[in-house]
Amino acid sequence: MTRTAIVTGAARGIGAATAIRLAADGYAVAVLDLDATSCTDTVAAIEEAGGRAIAIGANVADSAAVTDAVARVADELGAPTVLVNNAGILRDNLLFKMTDDDWDAVLAVHLRGAFLMTRAVQAHQVEAKWGRIVNLSSTSALGNRGQANYAAAKAGMQGFTKTLAIELGRYNVTANSVAPGFIATDMLRQTAERMGITNEQLLEGAAKEIPVGRVGQPEDVAAAVSFFCSEAASFVSGQVLYVAGGPKA
Ligand SMILES: NC(=O)c1ccc[n+]([C@@H]2O[C@H](COP(=O)([O-])OP(=O)(O)OC[C@H]3O[C@@H](n4cnc5c(N)ncnc54)[C@H](O)[C@@H]3O)[C@@H](O)[C@H]2O)c1
Repeated sequence: MTRTAIVTGAARGIGAATAIRLAADGYAVAVLDLDATSCTDTVAAIEEAGGRAIAIGANVADSAAVTDAVARVADELGAPTVLVNNAGILRDNLLFKMTDDDWDAVLAVHLRGAFLMTRAVQAHQVEAKWGRIVNLSSTSALGNRGQANYAAAKAGMQGFTKTLAIELGRYNVTANSVAPGFIATDMLRQTAERMGITNEQLLEGAAKEIPVGRVGQPEDVAAAVSFFCSEAASFVSGQVLYVAGGPKA
């Protein structure tokens, strides 16, 4: 039986690597992002490797769009029983400069988005009496200058995950959180721009602070997601795994 996974924010970065990894693991994958056309490369990479995928355009913070998207996935690929809540944005600013919109936009995509997607997908998981939910947190959940909004959202993802694990465990659904450290993606390009340095300078500086001596790649995170989705992880639920090249509390 082929199981169906939805990966949000899968047009690029960690989401794209995760979608490709889950397809290689044998899942049919719905590659979901704001704009369906932006998902073309991820879908093509999966198909070229012999996997099955469709592109879905939806804003995870829009309740009606989420309901439609999950129904389409169920129709076209089969009931989704794996969900990776990965879609995310940054609106970094020091607290005194952070606008209402900076706060609301970040909370809307990460927390409201994960809530809406999970509420829609859990109906399929409960019916199947099997499911896997993986939520992307971050080392920023432990606190990070300039990220009051993002840190609150990513700490929120951890509490959300633990509650899902408690509520859905009886249906054989596990929920876990992956909290990456510094991963080389477009998201960090924005950070380099804001700091007025090149992307290479940002990566070099970061690598020096990381015990394993390098920054992370999207595939490093995808591997952790893959483990949580596997049969081998069926007794692991409500956990937060820091994927950061060194210890984090
Ligand atoms: N890159 C890092 O170092 C890092 C570290 C820790 C956590 N994370 C988290 O990992 C996840 C992926 O990060 P990334 O670095 O690959 O980011 P990215 O910016 O490269 O990709 C994020 C994707 O999410 C999509 N997206 C944004 N808002 C959306 C919405 N409302 N609906 C649907 N899709 C939406 C974007 O279009 C984009 O394709 C995020 O949740 C991020 O917070 C990243």
